[in-house]
Amino acid sequence: MKKVTEVLRDEHCLIARAAACLDRVADEVLATDDLRVVVALDLLEFFEDFADGAHQEKEERHLFPALLRLGLAKHRVFELLDDHENEREALRSMWRNLEGAACGDPLSLDDFVRFAVEYAADQRRHADKENHVLLPLVEELMDADTERRVLAGFREIDSKLPRKTRAHYVALVQRAARRLGSQIAPRGVTSARRGAARGGYRPSATLRPRGSSRGARS
Ligand SMILES: [Fe+2]
Ligand SMILES: [Fe+2]
Repeated sequence: MKKVTEVLRDEHCLIARAAACLDRVADEVLATDDLRVVVALDLLEFFEDFADGAHQEKEERHLFPALLRLGLAKHRVFELLDDHENEREALRSMWRNLEGAACGDPLSLDDFVRFAVEYAADQRRHADKENHVLLPLVEELMDADTERRVLAGFREIDSKLPRKTRAHYVALVQRAARRLGSQIAPRGVTSARRGAARGGYRPSATLRPRGSSRGARS
């Protein structure tokens, strides 16, 4: 059985691949003024149900409460919750502009591209933050009982995905990547060094639990 950290790292990787596809859609609009509507719909369905849906729900309902019980400071969790809310807001803005953009309305196209670029960058930055700071803490802090409980919560959320199977959402991303060409690879999630070099999240920061001896900064 996969560990909590393996489940979340795998999902971050899939989300980063979808974000790279979204970047490509935005790049194409900038180059051609045409929006790939079917691809955009697939990606927005993935982000709505899986990334901002099931994945964030796993963290919010099961991972974060477990970490709080294990001593992670509340304001560290609030920082991650803020990221989630900002991502959801950018996603709502993409949905609002999709119909107009699909009809070629220039203002809607501009706004769709702006929010798409913002959303893709936010998703990458957030996944970097979790991969490099949060998940090492999970490995350090989580005992076997907590791990079992959190994984049971994850399975319950996966069982309620709107389209029932996780494979459906993997297929959405694969289909989008295929339609966009073979060059799509995640631009992040990065290694710590590459992330810092391109101005991404710097993992020296900030999510350590209170009283931890390793590099806490409040
Ligand atoms: Fe998150
Ligand atoms: Fe995450």
